[in-house]
Amino acid sequence: MNNFEFKNPTKLIFGRGQIVRIADEIPVGSRVMMTYGGGSIFKNGIYDQVKAALKDFQVVEFGGIEANPEYDTLVRAVHICREQQIDYLLAVGGGSVIDGTKFIAAAIHYPGASLWDILVRQENNRGLQTVPFGTVLTLPATGSEMNCGAVISRRELKEKFPFSLPNNYPQFSVLDPTACFSLPKRQLVNGIVDTFVHVMEQYLTYPVNAMIQDRFSEGILQTLVEIGPEILRRQTPDYDLMANFMLSATFGLNGLIAIGVPEDWASHMIGHELTALHGLDHGVTLAVVFPALIDVMRAEKKEKMLQYGERVWNITSGSEDERLDAVVKATRDFFESLGVKTRLSDYGIGTDTIRTITERFTQRGTRLGEHGTVLPETVGRILNNAL
Ligand code: NZQ
Ligand code: ZN
Repeated sequence: MNNFEFKNPTKLIFGRGQIVRIADEIPVGSRVMMTYGGGSIFKNGIYDQVKAALKDFQVVEFGGIEANPEYDTLVRAVHICREQQIDYLLAVGGGSVIDGTKFIAAAIHYPGASLWDILVRQENNRGLQTVPFGTVLTLPATGSEMNCGAVISRRELKEKFPFSLPNNYPQFSVLDPTACFSLPKRQLVNGIVDTFVHVMEQYLTYPVNAMIQDRFSEGILQTLVEIGPEILRRQTPDYDLMANFMLSATFGLNGLIAIGVPEDWASHMIGHELTALHGLDHGVTLAVVFPALIDVMRAEKKEKMLQYGERVWNITSGSEDERLDAVVKATRDFFESLGVKTRLSDYGIGTDTIRTITERFTQRGTRLGEHGTVLPETVGRILNNAL
């Protein structure tokens, strides 16, 4: 096991009817900006619950944060925060609203002239003062409710980049499973796939004898395999299924399973390009890239792929190569069984895009993967495998 430090300061407030608790968590007298997305919170009653809880605070509302939060929109919010002297943020929504709010939190006191530098010149971010914030989660997927990362898009440049700051964790996150009952199937599928691949990015690398982390990871994967199809099958949402899905997503990317182990994240970085260039949902990009990536990278990932195959899919017989083939197939079949297509051609994407992505990575000098061996040329092979 590798050396590690682990600290996660986010307080989770879990359960039915817990949105009211935000009033106890936000310091008295705060000037709050409440952020939200395209309006789902008006239809499912979450807006009313949050507003009732915030009745004793001065609140400025900022709605309209898009899926794949847009830089220009967030810059508008930053200007309002500066004008209104906002000193607390409350994100109410999915990963995009929370990520957008993390960007706002980092940008309000950012000394640089261009806020885009928060993403592209992260070496300048050390010691950056951020504004405190909490979240009310409405979509289990990203783990953003309990981590310090965010991903921001800039449509004008067709770019999408992640950033993370050690002091940009939510102070608290409310996880009420009933807030997710209104999710459409498309977002549930996205969330299941995203959570699955988050676990994989931290688990499917090479063995370092991290038995606890491996079992935690396999536990989340097995839970998703068990409850994912069931969540999608239900006409009426089930509280316990949603509760377990929420915890899978939160613990899939809150740092716990990453302690002391190597991490990959190549599928994510390639997927972000597909979203930036073609607007594909984040979960969809992962369903396309991940099976192709483990197929191409099977030599480097062999031991963990065989372990995953045995423990999650019960793949125990056949030659090594046959078992690795079966692992790729089981993973792809699982995603397809949820109703998401896993080929670039299913989305009308072809070799032009592959060329664009490999050129971008070449220009940026990008090297991905747990060994840094996923070079632009390798990315090309992975995407060709996904055609
Ligand atoms: O905007 P509204 O109207 O709220 O609708 C949203 C949006 O259209 C809707 N939705 C959310 N909760 C709902 C709901 N609809 C009905 N009922 C509810 N309870 O779902 C749509 C998608 O929402 P979004 O927040 O975009 O989805 P998700 O949570 O999957 O977030 C995706 C973003 O997070 C980034 C992705 O790259 C993408 O930009 N990620 C963030 C990470 C992180 N911070 O750690 C890690 C991830 O790997 C990921 O990259
Ligand atoms: Zn993700």
